[in-house]
Amino acid sequence: MQSYIIEGGYPLKGEIRVQGSKNAVLPLVAAALLNEGTTVLNGCPDISDVDKMLEIIRHFGCEAYQDRDSGTITINAASVHCEDIPEDMVRSFRGSMLFMGVMLARCGHIEMNYPGGCMIGERPVNYHLDAFREMGADVVYGKDNIVCTCKTLKGCKIALPFPSVGATENVILAAVKAVGTTMIINAAMEPEVAELCNMLCLMGADIKGIGSKIILIRKGIEKRNIRYTVMSDRIVVGTYAYAAAVTGGDISCIVNRQDIMTGISVLCKRMGIKLKYGNDYVRIISGKNITSIPYIKTEPYPGFPTDMQSQLMSVLSLGNGMSVIEESIFEKRYHIVSELLKMGADIRTEGNRAYICGVKSLKGAKLEVKDLRGGAALIIAGLAADGTTTVLDPGYIDRGYEKIADNLSELGGNIHLA
Ligand code: EPZ
Repeated sequence: MQSYIIEGGYPLKGEIRVQGSKNAVLPLVAAALLNEGTTVLNGCPDISDVDKMLEIIRHFGCEAYQDRDSGTITINAASVHCEDIPEDMVRSFRGSMLFMGVMLARCGHIEMNYPGGCMIGERPVNYHLDAFREMGADVVYGKDNIVCTCKTLKGCKIALPFPSVGATENVILAAVKAVGTTMIINAAMEPEVAELCNMLCLMGADIKGIGSKIILIRKGIEKRNIRYTVMSDRIVVGTYAYAAAVTGGDISCIVNRQDIMTGISVLCKRMGIKLKYGNDYVRIISGKNITSIPYIKTEPYPGFPTDMQSQLMSVLSLGNGMSVIEESIFEKRYHIVSELLKMGADIRTEGNRAYICGVKSLKGAKLEVKDLRGGAALIIAGLAADGTTTVLDPGYIDRGYEKIADNLSELGGNIHLA
């Protein structure tokens, strides 16, 4: 099995262009299925979750071309075979769920297994299916698969019990072809949702309240040739920022939007990590040591993102005192605790809280990855540790991080794939 081999203690210095956002590009690729013209996506990350989305797009009979070097994906969905998605394509990642809304809108029918994704909790899809039912779909689901059928989706008011990112996106993808207006109440406000809305408007949809908790969607999609640039990945920026912080580094991340650190910047400052902003970059300058955080809770946007929680745990393991993290979004997102303990960290968990007593240093160890962001967090810990760290099974990490070893090496980190 391949692994990342890391020699700790090398400060990260220099400049890096940050990849496009995984959680933005997945819904954009799904949305392209609604356009009978050509959709060109620029700035797409070269990651395995994108490969899986394109495999499904091609399974539906669409043309999809990816230029990995330029990051451009071209999709033409003039003709779509309305058929089920094979189990192995669905089970391997969470993004497959987004085809439910799109195929209901385009074909009026979809049958698929439950989506896969990181094992960070039960990850139900009840909000999605309840919403489709309210829009007039006949939804039948068993232990293994889901069947949704609807001749004509109708616009209606949908109040989400929780601002679920995927459910918000799925409802939007269905609503742009529904008869009448759909109002989503308690919508997710993550920027990746706004990106989806912006591109759907380019395709002719009429969407109001983009980026807010109440979104109004009216149909209007027509055959157009459009081009859209994917936003930089804010979680990847945060990950590299924390890697610079624990190595006493000074890096600049080139990004295509200025608000890229929303939800992350306040905590950086509280930890003593300096941030400087330019037109197209954010510079991260590590403080002398990491100031512990008495309490931080993960929250929906614009709060501290759950996708940065594992990376934060690695940083606070080296804090100058006691920190408490509360993971309020997912039930099982502390997989890395056992691995950080192997490195000499002092952490204990009680329910959804982790109590972290900072230590002077971590020591290299052989570590197992169990989810995407946890894997990135273990790389951060390895970059700071004394000695050699082996991070087993890079497959999880490669789902969301494009060329992470090359990028970190370019910044002076001592890491390679073996
Ligand atoms: C998206 O997952 C992201 N994935 C996740 O990123 C991210 O952590 C999450 O949003 C929260 O921000 C993609 O965009 C592909 P949710 P999603 O629906 O949509 C519960 C990463 O590392 N829930 O916002 O699956 C759910 O169990 C990944 O990039 C229901 O109960 O997340 C969770 O507790 C990990 N019923 C909470 O809501 C539902 O029908 C938030 O989930 C749906 C969700």
